[in-house]
Amino acid sequence: MADPRDPKTPAPTDLSQKFMSEEEVENHRDDGHYTVVSDIKVAHGKVPKFLKFVYVGLAAWGLYYALAASPINDRTEASPSAAPTAEAGAEVFSTTCAGCHNPTAERKIGPGLLGVQQRLGDKELENVLHNGRPDKGMPAPPSLNLNDNQIQSLKLYLTSLKK
Ligand code: HEC
Repeated sequence: MADPRDPKTPAPTDLSQKFMSEEEVENHRDDGHYTVVSDIKVAHGKVPKFLKFVYVGLAAWGLYYALAASPINDRTEASPSAAPTAEAGAEVFSTTCAGCHNPTAERKIGPGLLGVQQRLGDKELENVLHNGRPDKGMPAPPSLNLNDNQIQSLKLYLTSLKK
């Protein structure tokens, strides 16, 4: 404690003794009031209502995302163990074949593949899907890194493109 008799210690003033009036102190205890700190309104121990919704919403979304998200591999490639499906075939088609083929009748680099199974029949379709027609610019799908499962999925998908 500074010695009040020490001449270097300034005499106590009203200001230093009471920087808040009784009324101000009372306001601070009241939950309904806020203090302004650096121009920001700060309530006493209260989280603004809309922020509570934001927090709860974010938590719920995070939980939903954690539970519902499937690993990215399941979405982009047919896993070898899964049964072939037309949906998986459609996905393989869009990444591997769509650069050269439309799923419609319209020609691209190769013929449009609408109704291709009806046109070629199962046997020739299988043949093209396994061996391609390398001499005519159709690569053999296994050379495009497709496995049997993906080729079967492609066959289901192409068969679904009926005229
Ligand atoms: C680099 C371009 C290219 C890519 C990639 C490609 N193809 Fe082809 N495809 C062709 C061409 C060109 C032909 C026509 C060959 C011919 O004249 O017989 C063809 C023909 C075909 C045919 C026979 C169509 C018909 O009417 O005779 C099928 C089916 C086919 N492609 C499926 C696929 C599938 C499925 C993929 C993806 C795995 C694929 N192609 C990827 C170029 C491509």
